[in-house]
Amino acid sequence: MCGIIGVASIGPKDDVLAKITLDALKSLEYRGYDSVGMASMDSSHLEVRKCAGNVEKFEKLRRPLSMKGTIFLGHTRWATHGEPNDINAHPHLDCTGEVAVIHNGTVLNFLELKHDLISKGHKFTSDTDTEVIAHLIEHFRKLGMDNFSAFKQAIQSIQGDHAVLAIVKGDNRIFFSKKNNPLVIGLGDEMNLISSDIWSLIHVTNRTIPIGDDEIGHITATSIYAEKLNGEKIDLKSRLIVQQIDSSAISLEGYESFMIKEIRESWGAVRDTIAGLMGDVEIGKAVKALDRARRVFVVAAGTSFHAGLIFSLRLLRNGKTVIPVIASEHEFLETDEDDAILVISQSGETMDSLLALKRFKSNGSFVISLTNTLGNSISSYSNVALHTRAGPEIGVAATKTFTSQVGALLLLSSMIIGESIDYLKEAETVVANSFSKSIGYMEKIGREVANKSSMYYLGKGLGVPMAMEGALKIKEIAYIHAEAYPAGESKHGPIALVEKGFPVIFVNTGELVDELRNNLKEMQSRQARTYVISAGPELKSDSETREIVLEVSDPRLTTLALAPPLQLIAYYAAKERGTNPDRPRNLAKTVTVR
Ligand code: F6R
Repeated sequence: MCGIIGVASIGPKDDVLAKITLDALKSLEYRGYDSVGMASMDSSHLEVRKCAGNVEKFEKLRRPLSMKGTIFLGHTRWATHGEPNDINAHPHLDCTGEVAVIHNGTVLNFLELKHDLISKGHKFTSDTDTEVIAHLIEHFRKLGMDNFSAFKQAIQSIQGDHAVLAIVKGDNRIFFSKKNNPLVIGLGDEMNLISSDIWSLIHVTNRTIPIGDDEIGHITATSIYAEKLNGEKIDLKSRLIVQQIDSSAISLEGYESFMIKEIRESWGAVRDTIAGLMGDVEIGKAVKALDRARRVFVVAAGTSFHAGLIFSLRLLRNGKTVIPVIASEHEFLETDEDDAILVISQSGETMDSLLALKRFKSNGSFVISLTNTLGNSISSYSNVALHTRAGPEIGVAATKTFTSQVGALLLLSSMIIGESIDYLKEAETVVANSFSKSIGYMEKIGREVANKSSMYYLGKGLGVPMAMEGALKIKEIAYIHAEAYPAGESKHGPIALVEKGFPVIFVNTGELVDELRNNLKEMQSRQARTYVISAGPELKSDSETREIVLEVSDPRLTTLALAPPLQLIAYYAAKERGTNPDRPRNLAKTVTVR
């Protein structure tokens, strides 16, 4: 996965365009931070600066703010073909230095194309698959095609999912093509932009137009154009979406990290999500379809899957047939026209979830999605698109988006079950109180476990997906090995690892408390270091146990209450270990590869 941005403006505007491009790269950095590069162009020059490393290093080494031009490209890379070094960083040029290309995706047939181009005299400088696109454009231009035709021909020659931007010296258009990787146009003032991610455009404009799959076109400072690969013209303006966001959500505003800022935004996000969905006619359609379906398949990845498990358990307990599906495992299941699919994804772009959606939909199943942005790929393929309203989440680890998903799914499941939704009026207060009551204690736990190499999270019932989420979070940002189990399962194997001081966090939702207490005792008698986060009756069994009891007005709100403390443990463990919670190694926020 990579992040790509293109900016086309009427005039050079001093260093404003370079700054817009660099700021967008800072927001896109979560998509990959192996290497960074920019191209700038006007009618007489095309310049590329790039290097291995993150945006900060790029800014220091290559001084991109001194780049001049009316057209800019920017790229932040998550290496697939070719190690992350200066040469493999994008943009890539053709032999003449007149064509520059940036790319998110994979050219599956690049070796074949590369050999063919080499045999025609092309000289390659990098090990990337992307460079073939620049050479292909050059090749077709040499055959006499105009620039757009050459670009189209190049795109038709490559196989694989992609979002590509290309520029040609002397041409004021940024050419684009999209296939299964995100791409969105932003309409600015005497300026148009195109990017992998809506949030990277928000510094400049909230007027956006999503590009669909297999669409190809170009933007200039004052025009936008797209067509289908078969030449059919697309009415892009009819897709205009005005994003409702507060731009304070994308700056740190004095906080040390986006993760802590975003955890603090979670109760507002839950409130806005529930209120937004209650006023959305689409939720009625979703309830009807889910209620009517013979089986409900809940499809998601990572943290979104944990939110999906909470939803699934609630419906299963109410007699519905629900099958939770890890998105990347979808091929092992079949659906039909009597089934409904609920796809949960904060980004709306996760490739595994999108592929599952498309296949299940092609089986005739009705698809409902829950995503956190407007105009994303997953919602555009859904029969009913629901949205959380958490606002932009910049930290790679999902925090407020998860809590908002849980809020949305409590509402949706209650509506399907046919129970009163009055209890959700307290959702905001429960999350806010849980945060303020637990922060000090969670900091202590986070700092205590920071020097451990392994730990367990145990729970029962709805506590299991919450334990899974707690374990995922601490692995992800503090790099501590953590596993989650149903607490009763721990005695069937995992307990063998437990010795003096081994950290075990009990997640207590108030379900089967006596049994959970027994499991706690089993751990204590092996001298584990035990912690309990209770959103139900106290579990405490002796003076050794460190337990916090959160106030929850209704048992259905326990999962919401447990979200902030589990996130805070991971945050403080990361802080203690000196790792960056916003940018965990090897991870990207939007995973648009299989
Ligand atoms: C964990 C995390 C990932 C995502 C997963 C799915 O903090 O962020 O596990 O939850 O990659 O992403 P979405 O929700 O965008 O489909």
